[in-house]
Amino acid sequence: MPRADVLVASNRGPVSFRLGDDGGLTLSRGGGGLVSGVSTAARDGLSVWVCAALSDADRLAAAAAPGGRLDLAGHDTGGAAVRMLPIDESTFRSAYNAVANSTIWYVNHTLFDTPRTPVFDARWARYWQAYVDYNRAFAAALAEEAADGAKVLVQDYHLMLVPRMVRELRPDLRIGHFTHTPWAEPSYFSLLPDDIAAAILTGMLGADSVGFLSPRWAEAFVRCCVRLLGADAGGGNVHLGNRSTSVRVHPLGVDAEELRERVSRPDVGLRRDALRQRIGDRRVIVRVDRTELSKNIVRGLAAYRELLRTHPEHRGNVMHVVFAYPSRHDLPDYRAYTAEVQRLAREIDDEFAGNGWSPLLLEVNDDYARSLAALQLAEVLVVNPLRDGMNLVAKEGPVLSENGVALVLSREAGAADEFGADALTVNPFDVSGTARAMHEALLMDPAERRRRSERLARAATALPPTAWFAAQLAALD
Ligand code: G6P
Repeated sequence: MPRADVLVASNRGPVSFRLGDDGGLTLSRGGGGLVSGVSTAARDGLSVWVCAALSDADRLAAAAAPGGRLDLAGHDTGGAAVRMLPIDESTFRSAYNAVANSTIWYVNHTLFDTPRTPVFDARWARYWQAYVDYNRAFAAALAEEAADGAKVLVQDYHLMLVPRMVRELRPDLRIGHFTHTPWAEPSYFSLLPDDIAAAILTGMLGADSVGFLSPRWAEAFVRCCVRLLGADAGGGNVHLGNRSTSVRVHPLGVDAEELRERVSRPDVGLRRDALRQRIGDRRVIVRVDRTELSKNIVRGLAAYRELLRTHPEHRGNVMHVVFAYPSRHDLPDYRAYTAEVQRLAREIDDEFAGNGWSPLLLEVNDDYARSLAALQLAEVLVVNPLRDGMNLVAKEGPVLSENGVALVLSREAGAADEFGADALTVNPFDVSGTARAMHEALLMDPAERRRRSERLARAATALPPTAWFAAQLAALD
């Protein structure tokens, strides 16, 4: 098999498998910002994408693939070969659930309930060992697949030890790391045990270049290196020992052409018609999220309730469409959060529904075409995460909206850096402030709303995934 010049590594890959009743495997597209960004960009020279098998069906498919590379004939992965690693289930679960999603994700999104969590004990130390092993499996596969002097782009918080491990195995390679999440300030990052914090930072500094979605996250990373490792920083670089790593910001936008092509297909049209019928001639406030703690869905619903309580004129005239599709349901916190979202939605319905009007439409299953249709119809879009690396829904909304959308946006989302005054920015903890912003959005003059929405769409598409990907590669020259 030819060795690769450009490689990407990420936990979630572009495809996942499901085991049918007949024992056959069916394929579907991976979700989330990382996968959509890299998939769109992959046409530009990516040769191998290394990812983990995430389920039993994935492990079966991966174990059956010759040399580990999947046969994806007929599926658009942008021309890249996909090497899916059949990491054993218990190692994978410990690395993905306990360390990546319950520790590092929580650190970078500041999600801990600190009187109770985190707890770093002997059990957690075993999970960490699994994270090390899982990172080692990626490093070994990359070292095996890469041609001399190849460029390796390692993605996200699941794989923070990989850059240093790859450098040790293959000093000839050019290595980049890109973080899709925010980064915590040193005071919060140092909740981690000192040796773990140091392993993560030095793991990443094994790269020639590390990238972030916003200057805020890049600066926090540099402060962590300086404060916790005693590294030197200057001129956009971090120096530690005899090595330097450049720290870059590569914002990720959306591809307008691809989105518009996608919504022109019949499945989206059908869902748009169904939604239109459901909404009637009411005003529509939309949100679309993974059911994810950091997305702050519960406070968003509380703000909608406050809007209806304080502005009775909206009752009967507005509908909140909430699509919260499932995510990370192995984690009890996430299951409980979904239940809380559903409970609050029911309470709002009980308080206000009547005369054939239901204030809210909540769906918790995944339907990509339906989400796109909702974004087309949205007059107001609510994106109020506690913290978010970027948030691509905030960017897709203005591009897709038919009549212009007023964006209520958390100032803690990376996207807020690029949108300036055209979004109605809110403090995500301030429920009353969010309710006021929703009210202001509903009252916005339609012409003004369209003008702002057009400017938002221009900002959202300024750096499409191809440019983002090219910037990561160029940072290695
Ligand atoms: C975020 C992360 C990605 C991840 C995605 C979906 O966007 O930065 O790395 O793939 O969430 O989460 P999941 O755990 O389902 O892959």
